[in-house]
Amino acid sequence: MEYEIINLSYNSLEPVIDDKTLDLHYNGHYKNYTDKLNKLLKESSYDYRYSPEELAMNINNFPFKNNSDLLFNLGGYLNHSLYFDHLIDSKVLVPEGLAKELNKYFGSFDNFKNEFINMALELKGSGWTFLVLDKNNKLRIINLPNQDSPYFYGFIPLMGIDMWEHAYYIKYNLDKKKYLENIFNIIDFNKVYRNFLNAKR
Ligand SMILES: [Fe+2]
Repeated sequence: MEYEIINLSYNSLEPVIDDKTLDLHYNGHYKNYTDKLNKLLKESSYDYRYSPEELAMNINNFPFKNNSDLLFNLGGYLNHSLYFDHLIDSKVLVPEGLAKELNKYFGSFDNFKNEFINMALELKGSGWTFLVLDKNNKLRIINLPNQDSPYFYGFIPLMGIDMWEHAYYIKYNLDKKKYLENIFNIIDFNKVYRNFLNAKR
């Protein structure tokens, strides 16, 4: 079965994300990555036996490991699925279990947020900032360029913020910091914690 875009559990993320950006991002960019990914996979006679995450984690075992178009659209699909899944139209408290993990690695939730924002501001050009679990089950904040997926590098993404201009430019123009500070208010940290529990190996 083809890979599909995830359904949104909200109609609007105003005022943090303006409706026009959400529409273009979800119905335009995300859908394009998904459609192109399916087209390229079908051209390679792929049989969809793996989840997209498994496909990305094991990309070296597939004949299309060097197909840069396919990797770009697979990453774009996975990154946007993560992003839209953990956005929510109301503020969510950080669950206790996640808060404990964040305290362990970053000292406090506020430190985590600052480190994440500072990391994202260091990104040059288009890319993403992720909270990931590494191979030793440790939390890390990383930047990746373009549509690279953390799965390509052996990381499991728990939270990912899109730092491409299409994610913020209409409303925030050059003010990436404001976009980052505001988006923390519409992250569903229950989903981030769920991702953490699912990712632990
Ligand atoms: Fe995007």
